[in-house]
Amino acid sequence: MYILHKFLVLFFLFVSIAEARDFFYEIKKASRDGIGKFYLGREISQVMGHRAAGWLERPEREQEERTDLLIESLELEPYHIVADIGAGTGYFTFPISSRVPQGKVLAVDIQSEMLEIIDARRNNAVYGQWSNIQTVLGTVISPNLPDETVDIILMVDSYHEFSNPREMGEAMVRALKPGGRIILVEYRLEDVSIPIKRLHKMSVRQSKKEMAALGLVFIKNKNILPQQHFMVFEKAKH
Ligand SMILES: C[S@@+](CC[C@H](N)C(=O)[O-])C[C@H]1O[C@@H](n2cnc3c(N)ncnc32)[C@H](O)[C@@H]1O
Repeated sequence: MYILHKFLVLFFLFVSIAEARDFFYEIKKASRDGIGKFYLGREISQVMGHRAAGWLERPEREQEERTDLLIESLELEPYHIVADIGAGTGYFTFPISSRVPQGKVLAVDIQSEMLEIIDARRNNAVYGQWSNIQTVLGTVISPNLPDETVDIILMVDSYHEFSNPREMGEAMVRALKPGGRIILVEYRLEDVSIPIKRLHKMSVRQSKKEMAALGLVFIKNKNILPQQHFMVFEKAKH
């Protein structure tokens, strides 16, 4: 009898936690590039599969997106611990690595095939190069990073794909050190001339709403990139 009672209590606890999580999302008919799941009014996009990895490494990308300016604007210190979440092929992980020689870059992705691309490239490096890169297999609800260990979280064109942005967001905030920053880089939804599918873009207004829901403070939107917002959010310093 006692065991049955305990089982029922645990069962109802589990069900109520699951319902509380679902409370954050609305399910509706999916649009062409979406998954039919809405968070704070935004439909979440489909994930870019690893078979499209070549597109992330296209040679014209540097000019199109001014990736040099993006990295410059991260204001990295040599000792920083940086998490590149939704790292893909590591397009940003590798150049960041040399900017944090006493620190580390944690390349997080949910697709192990993406992380294998990063590992293969790093393993072919000359001795010592890129030795501060670590790949981390995340889940849709967590980047699997220890609490209060990260100075900067960078997400380039990835956040809009997170199927569980609320849980991911809460886990990312836990992983940040007090005073740590989230840099959210997303194609500008406000600019219809940018030739990117709607669900793969985000507005400043929506981004602020979603980050505020996590308790993050909006610091600035650096207007430096040709097509993307570069939005900076901060975790309170305690
Ligand atoms: C469009 S790619 C961008 C890759 C890279 N940031 C870049 O700019 O080259 C988005 C990546 O986010 C990853 N992703 C999607 N949901 C994720 C999640 N919940 N956690 C970590 N990575 C995720 C995808 O697997 C994909 O590799």
